[in-house]
Amino acid sequence: MNKSIPVLAIDGPSGSGKGTLAARIAAELGWHLLDSGALYRIVAAMAVRRGLDVEQEQTMCELAQSLDIAFPDGRVRVDDLDLTDEIRTEDIGVMASRVAALPAVRAAILELQRNFAQAPGLVADGRDMGTVVFPHAGLKIFLDASAEARAERRYNQLKNKGLSVSLRDLLEQIEERDARDRERATAPLKAASDALLIDSTQMTIEEVCTTVMQAATQRLL
Ligand code: C5P
Repeated sequence: MNKSIPVLAIDGPSGSGKGTLAARIAAELGWHLLDSGALYRIVAAMAVRRGLDVEQEQTMCELAQSLDIAFPDGRVRVDDLDLTDEIRTEDIGVMASRVAALPAVRAAILELQRNFAQAPGLVADGRDMGTVVFPHAGLKIFLDASAEARAERRYNQLKNKGLSVSLRDLLEQIEERDARDRERATAPLKAASDALLIDSTQMTIEEVCTTVMQAATQRLL
């Protein structure tokens, strides 16, 4: 891994706003963006398409290694398929967290993730960016929010897209996914010891961006 490329690592639970934050900061800095959750979602979606069992570690590992993944212009391309919308459902999110608990799958996509670190810099978001994938990152953010606030944000996003969902179901899914992500043995969701902790429960995305840009200016630029 090329340690001379600056990296800003953003970790946190689902719905904490880290995806939006990472995209905005990357655009502001003119840096590359890695949405590492998309990789686990892709493996889950392809397993569903092929009728494979997501609990089979070896099968999932081989699947992860075999895929040709690219993110042209913010879209998600896998082999010759466009999976941009398909990987964003709640069901695929829950399945992705099952795939992500398999150590062999995590190992299979480690290098792929590190290859995203290209000049002039990388903003990477996920669960283990600061702890495992980029432990040398110049700035690490751990973005949290209460489960209720996260479920409500997701509810509003889906409602704006015209989808009908139940807030209670969303909260249950978020809590189930959080528990699996925090309790798994390999690369569990947790803040790096040197991470800047931000609780966004009472903050707007603009306030979070301003806080992170200030820290980035001080520590990375
Ligand atoms: O961030 P997103 O919700 O897209 O991630 C989907 C799932 O992928 C998470 O619930 C988590 O289990 C897994 N994941 C992970 N490590 C990452 C990113 C995502 O385990 N770096």
